[in-house]
Amino acid sequence: MTILITGGGSGIGAATARRLSQWSAVVVADRNKAAADEVAREIIADGRKAFAVEVDVSSSASVKAMLEHLPAEARQIQGLFNNAGINVRQRIDEITEDGWDAVIATHVKGVLLVSQAVLPQMLARGRGVVVNTASDYAVIGVPGLAAYCAAKTAIYSMTKAMAVEFTAKGVRVNAVGPGPIDTPLLRAGRSPEEGAARLDLHRPKIPMKRLGRPEEVAAVVDFLMSDRSSYIAGQLLQPNGGLVVW
Ligand SMILES: NC(=O)c1ccc[n+]([C@@H]2O[C@H](COP(=O)([O-])OP(=O)(O)OC[C@H]3O[C@@H](n4cnc5c(N)ncnc54)[C@H](O)[C@@H]3O)[C@@H](O)[C@H]2O)c1
Repeated sequence: MTILITGGGSGIGAATARRLSQWSAVVVADRNKAAADEVAREIIADGRKAFAVEVDVSSSASVKAMLEHLPAEARQIQGLFNNAGINVRQRIDEITEDGWDAVIATHVKGVLLVSQAVLPQMLARGRGVVVNTASDYAVIGVPGLAAYCAAKTAIYSMTKAMAVEFTAKGVRVNAVGPGPIDTPLLRAGRSPEEGAARLDLHRPKIPMKRLGRPEEVAAVVDFLMSDRSSYIAGQLLQPNGGLVVW
């Protein structure tokens, strides 16, 4: 069994690669090759199987090259975690075209391109699992994050469409929708002081009064990837400390 994890070089992706490597070979794919190498090295040092590969998920040429660069044994992919992501903090009235395009291309086009590259082999086998990283922000509005919210809602929607299309063909598709998780992304674009102040403001609103850990999202992805979730398809599972409850 091999599971491909995009954005595997950091945060949620890295924690998930470490966890899934306990029962599967993992491909750690990231545009930051050094970071992917480091995560794969760590997993291999623990006696498990990992491959590191560079990819820009927003580029079809790069996604194609990623698969070509993998050794043959790692190209048989039974599980896909579409997780690579970025954030641009700009309100809808101020966001630049470049900022919008980068967020939508990484998240929405990224899920499309990597899924397109991997789904054919899953469908041919009549078996496979896909987990897409959405967010709480797929279902709530957040000031200053228009592109990110749009991208995450699109990923949630794509997850449902993929589930409707592929469940009967043996490929289960679900989404994980994390709340605030302590990773570099949460602080991106802010100084350490600004980041800390912002989080102090938000922490009291979280019923658990703390940020989540990447490992707590990895546990959910592990469940969705495994046969323990064999009757779950097209769902958004939200590890968020109780922050968003419907
Ligand atoms: N941290 C949170 O609070 C939070 C909450 C909800 C959802 N998410 C989502 O979780 C996912 C992982 O984020 P994280 O918090 O672990 O962030 P992170 O910054 O720690 O990791 C993201 C990884 O994605 C990689 N990446 C970015 N663009 C890429 C591209 N075009 N091609 C390949 N790799 C690319 C980065 O190099 C990085 O290693 C993202 O989709 C993010 O939107 C995060």
